[in-house]
Amino acid sequence: MTGRLVVVSNRIPTEAVPSGGLVVALHDALSEQGGLWIGAHPETGDPDAPFEEIGGAPYRRLAFRLSEADYENYYLGFANSVLWPLSHHRVDLVEINAAYTAAYLAVNRRLARRMAAILQPDDLVWIHDYHFLPLAAELRALGVGNRIGFFLHIPVPNITDLEVLPHPPDYAAWLAQYDLVGLQTRTDVARCLEIYRADPRAEFLPSCAVKFEDRVTRVQSFPIGIDVAAFRADALSAGSKGDGMEARANYVIGVDRLDYSKGLPNRFRAFERYLQDHGTGDRLSLVQIAPPTREAVDAYRRITADLEYIAGQVNGLYGAFDWSPIRFIHRPVPRDEIARLLRGAKACLVTSLADGMNLVAKEFVAAQDPDDPGVLILSRFAGAAEDMTDALLVNPYDHDAVAQAIDRAAHMSRDERLRRHAALTEVVERTDVRAWSRSFIDRLSRLEPGLLLRG
Ligand code: G6P
Repeated sequence: MTGRLVVVSNRIPTEAVPSGGLVVALHDALSEQGGLWIGAHPETGDPDAPFEEIGGAPYRRLAFRLSEADYENYYLGFANSVLWPLSHHRVDLVEINAAYTAAYLAVNRRLARRMAAILQPDDLVWIHDYHFLPLAAELRALGVGNRIGFFLHIPVPNITDLEVLPHPPDYAAWLAQYDLVGLQTRTDVARCLEIYRADPRAEFLPSCAVKFEDRVTRVQSFPIGIDVAAFRADALSAGSKGDGMEARANYVIGVDRLDYSKGLPNRFRAFERYLQDHGTGDRLSLVQIAPPTREAVDAYRRITADLEYIAGQVNGLYGAFDWSPIRFIHRPVPRDEIARLLRGAKACLVTSLADGMNLVAKEFVAAQDPDDPGVLILSRFAGAAEDMTDALLVNPYDHDAVAQAIDRAAHMSRDERLRRHAALTEVVERTDVRAWSRSFIDRLSRLEPGLLLRG
């Protein structure tokens, strides 16, 4: 493969050797191929200053600064108060604000200008996530003809929800400027093609290729995974003395960013229903780890209070002096500790109302003792459910069904657990994050650069 790899993502690692799945895969790909990783500096600053080098890696990391106003209007605003809720089917939470739209377009335009000045003709550009949807369009407007790929980590919005986007933002036209659009699931591909089907500017070519005005873009699913070996190692690492995770304990676990898309109130209510319907005889607890995220956005602040209320209610009603049904931990917990907690759990509850993939589902499977595995209860609305069909698949809105799944998981025979776990392990290993990044890069690099169909 010729040329450098140029990765763009909102967050950029600052440690020499990063940890955590996706970041590790991109770090490895860049270390192998050489190139650049461009992202927003963790601290705000002068947006017009040149790229800042973040040293320590065997490739270049270049950070740009967001101003305070950009952080509010681009990151908290358009990215996380418009595109995030829109893509997670929460149009009720979308905040339309002209300053958000303007900042989103301006940040992308500014970044495109800076990138165009340093890109070499055979660079392979790989842009990540909803923070940068219009980046290819901005680069093309500056004459950049490189192969540009895009991977969307979150769901593709429903076509009808797109109606709430203010105009001029033009989702279909933004994506059409990429040579390759990678999505998490086949359902996302279908949703994306539906958007093009409804657009008179688009014409369908064979194999999910779309000709849009004078350019061809391919849409394909690349389900993301985890760094399986590293996560297994974390799950087996020695814990601090007395953390009680040496053997399987009597709890069901949930691990999520404290985000409304994760269905946490539904999960707590379903656990309450489980206690109501199946009694407290099993003394099963729900351990919920939910580190806060994007707290400056109102919708995020509100759910903490909701969850504290429900946990308090349930514990008050069902708890005993030596047992709390719900243990709600809303602060960051180190990754290796999470891995050990996942390994020790009887079951893992993923109740997302919408979710690009959900890597906790894969981490839970990787963390299990293959001779005595726990049970995965997985929302049908998480991207992971498309392939992880041997989980107990549930509708997170149906509290009775989730409660039954919890009881079923708690009493499942070892034979059934072994069978389900083996099938799930096959999926988790097949979609390992390194294979994921390799297959995306491979597909992008085999495409004809900047295929234009003029005339
Ligand atoms: C999701 C997004 C990522 C994002 C992460 C954490 O997984 O797809 O792009 O980085 O959430 O969110 P944050 O806003 O803290 O970066």
